[in-house]
Amino acid sequence: MMTGILQEHFTLANDVEIPKIGFGTWMIEDDDKAAQAVREAIEVGYRHIDTAEAYGNEAGVGEGVRSSGLDRKEVFVTTKLRAEYKDYEGARQAIDDSLRTLNLGYIDLMIIHSPKPWAKFGEDEHYFAGNLEAWKALEEAHEAGKIRAIGVSNFEQVDLRNIIDNSETLPAVDQVLAHIGNTPFELMDYARQHNILVEAYSPFGHGDMLHNVEVQRIAERNQVSVTQLAVRYLLQLGLLPLPKASSTEHMRQNADVDFVIGDEDMTQLRNITKQQYSDANRQFPVYQS
Ligand SMILES: NC(=O)c1ccc[n+]([C@@H]2O[C@H](COP(=O)([O-])OP(=O)(O)OC[C@H]3O[C@@H](n4cnc5c(N)ncnc54)[C@H](OP(=O)(O)O)[C@@H]3O)[C@@H](O)[C@H]2O)c1
Repeated sequence: MMTGILQEHFTLANDVEIPKIGFGTWMIEDDDKAAQAVREAIEVGYRHIDTAEAYGNEAGVGEGVRSSGLDRKEVFVTTKLRAEYKDYEGARQAIDDSLRTLNLGYIDLMIIHSPKPWAKFGEDEHYFAGNLEAWKALEEAHEAGKIRAIGVSNFEQVDLRNIIDNSETLPAVDQVLAHIGNTPFELMDYARQHNILVEAYSPFGHGDMLHNVEVQRIAERNQVSVTQLAVRYLLQLGLLPLPKASSTEHMRQNADVDFVIGDEDMTQLRNITKQQYSDANRQFPVYQS
């Protein structure tokens, strides 16, 4: 089992500790495969698993954690409230559904998947009232001890401000698209001011970043793989990367990041501001901007 970064934590605003790298499970739709992937990731040394109601694999993820041989409290599990629930009652029921489906007793972190329903992702409407209703349901589940920390995903500054200005509890995290070539520096500054941890999803641009020649050159210079450079870059910016991988070899490589990217290379990486997404990936709303 690997140690190093996989045993390090960030501390959330409510003092809950969260492992610095999480294992992503989007598109592992079959429950048996999800359970197997989670067991393998845990075997490699990952202690933080990222799932979502919308991924359709919460049952498999729960099974993977239960059958890993570890105590429940040794694995940090995040799930997401479907982007479509923008009313209190729908959100309340969906939270209880996730608790039942995961079947792990409690959820470590639950986040609103998106401020806008996916079908409306590119539109101007921000669903401020609906997000406050969903947030209220999360706050209550948190107070009831069903969830240890609550947060959001895909929230822009304006969406965060809506929660900050109108709620008792601040989001502990904002999980957003962040990788070399597409790093949301302004949002990161705003989140930092409010003690909100930024989690970086699609740290490899859903695979597209692997083909970026400039990134390849910098990886070669550092004698690491592109994915190792990508994970290390995010950690050095204070973000929590959520890499997904199918093989244990990839899982292991992505967490083997015990090196330092020098200042000059970091500057060059920060200044890469264009990442073309493939047509296949552009079918998903998050890669369309
Ligand atoms: N909140 C949201 O709206 C949202 C949106 C997107 C993603 N997420 C979360 O973020 C996680 C990660 O993002 P993602 O799934 O979009 O993709 P990603 O982690 O950016 O990239 C995954 C791709 O990279 C490849 N890969 C991984 N390690 C590799 C290695 N060492 N060498 C070569 N190729 C490698 C994988 O191939 P193999 O599978 O063959 O290893 C896969 O094709 C998701 O699983 C999910 O948990 C959240």
